[in-house]
Amino acid sequence: MKIKSYKSTEVNDCREASKISATILDELTDYISEGITTEDIDNYCVERIKKLGGVPAPLFYRGFPKSICTSLNHVICHGIPSKDRKLLEGDILNVDITTIINGWHGDTSRMYKIGKVPVKANNLCEVTHQCLIESLKEIKIGAPISQIGKRIDIIANNNNFSVVRDFCGHGVGRNFHENPSILHYYDQEYDKIYFIDGMIFTVEPMINSGKYHSKILTDGWTAVTKDKTLSAQYEHTIYINGDNIEILTESPKGIFYN
Ligand code: MF3
Ligand code: CO
Ligand code: CO
Repeated sequence: MKIKSYKSTEVNDCREASKISATILDELTDYISEGITTEDIDNYCVERIKKLGGVPAPLFYRGFPKSICTSLNHVICHGIPSKDRKLLEGDILNVDITTIINGWHGDTSRMYKIGKVPVKANNLCEVTHQCLIESLKEIKIGAPISQIGKRIDIIANNNNFSVVRDFCGHGVGRNFHENPSILHYYDQEYDKIYFIDGMIFTVEPMINSGKYHSKILTDGWTAVTKDKTLSAQYEHTIYINGDNIEILTESPKGIFYN
């Protein structure tokens, strides 16, 4: 498998795109509240992305109709912002932003809690964030890419949650989605594919409180848990800069923004 590799001086626009996506996720902590709609969030993000000099990657990507993804409660990923439902106390929502700067993509997502949420929902979000952060510690040049999924599987299973199998992380850069796929569960095929210097990719575990199975709604995008249980996701874009594992989408608030 051909994996692209970039010198540190080549990826400044990717750093910038990632920083913009992450900064807007920070801002959403104050913006998101009971009574607003996911379309309001889409509008807010479009305005901010443009103001900061970027372009939203999802809009018209393979026909996606909006500029960000908003995945509520049992939606796993690729939820389409809509004005049809107001956010309610107890909801958990993933917002996924990808900004383009001069053709370079920065892709990140996190969870937002609306008011006080049930203990189980809160725990799901915390464990999912832990899955992301702990798996990032497995990244180093020459390590098998399967280490990511191995680590996430252990943490999720210890908490009686399940790891979504139908969607994965991905190489990213001048394209939104590139090789390699970054699986969030263990697959021995990735024992022999290794992290290389200069690669850029995402890690974006989706963890369900019930079973891992997913299905796509008739809109062709929205992925939901088959058993209608809750799902959470956190995502970072990573650049391997020698021994320095750069979290390009680390925000001004830092890694522990929750
Ligand atoms: N940002 C998503 C990811 O993490 C991809 C969204 S594709 C879209 O890979 F078309 F739904 F926007
Ligand atoms: Co991604
Ligand atoms: Co994303």
